Amino acid sequence: MAKRILTGDRPTGPLHLGHYVGSLQNRVRLQNEYDTYVLIADIQALTDNFEHPENLAANVFEVALDYLAVGLDPEKVKIVVQSMVPELSELTTYFMNLVTVATLERNPTVKEEIKQRNFVKGVPVGFWSYPISQAADITIFKADLVPVGEDQLPMIEQAREIVRRFNRLYAKVLVEPKAMLGSVARLPGTDGGAKMSKSLGNCIYLCDPPDMVRKRVMSMFTDPTRIHPTDPGHVEGNPVFTYHDVFNPNKAEVDDLKERYRKGTVGDVEVKQRLYDALVNFLAPIRERRMQYAANPKRVYEIIIEGTRKGRTLAQTTMDEVRTAMKIAYKFE
Ligand code: TRP
Repeated sequence: MAKRILTGDRPTGPLHLGHYVGSLQNRVRLQNEYDTYVLIADIQALTDNFEHPENLAANVFEVALDYLAVGLDPEKVKIVVQSMVPELSELTTYFMNLVTVATLERNPTVKEEIKQRNFVKGVPVGFWSYPISQAADITIFKADLVPVGEDQLPMIEQAREIVRRFNRLYAKVLVEPKAMLGSVARLPGTDGGAKMSKSLGNCIYLCDPPDMVRKRVMSMFTDPTRIHPTDPGHVEGNPVFTYHDVFNPNKAEVDDLKERYRKGTVGDVEVKQRLYDALVNFLAPIRERRMQYAANPKRVYEIIIEGTRKGRTLAQTTMDEVRTAMKIAYKFE
């Protein structure tokens, strides 16, 4: 049996370059070797969008388009909508007994997100406990490998702990998953912040048209110590050069720009212009494929429905084993 991949994204908007280097790239690379499931995690998205659930449907479609646009092959990869697999909620409920409140409180990613979100009425239980639901996502498909960005490592660790506890307590049914980080574990934002993130408004989206890419690149944060183009500049920690390293395949050009930047013989505008060119080239085939699928929404929905059907069948098989292991597979005849 081929080993299995499960990973996913919250449908809160279109996906960006950070998603690409953190996880999407690995999914595309591994889709031929692994039995791959990608989850559009709308239940998880609800944990901080429950006041505006009407936005989810359109974003489920957008995320599916992004998956297809980056080259996930619908013949191989199963695109699964989380809320259409109710078995996930059942498994989440059973997992809740295997996690302590103190463990949830220590999750560094959730802590950080709570700070960013500033929940006025206090932190909803749903948000705070979403690592448990994410553990169900991963384990119901018996995933071996989870391609994710660095911020998701605490979630995989939580899932591994739950699997160990479940298997020890009941029976060895679940698979302990491993995380797989992308070529760049954490892409900085255009503002130079540590992470590209929709809620921080510092993203370049996979579907951005060239004029939007230009706007975002030209307003990027560079080296704050450099006032004039003739000042020697800093390359390290400068997001414009981080992006060059990742997205500009012309390494000689990047080396030349770095050298001149350090000497103070090239201006930010030229460095950004070259980055713009590299990004537009990188995004062109993605945009092209996205537009083709977007013109045929019926086909996209068919792909989602078919992927979800296959995912649900697998989830149901796992749940039969889970209930049997837990001795709650009652037969009252
Ligand atoms: N928490 C992930 C994110 O914010 C999305 C996600 C939901 C996920 N379920 C998952 C990722 C299962 C990996 C595996 O991007």
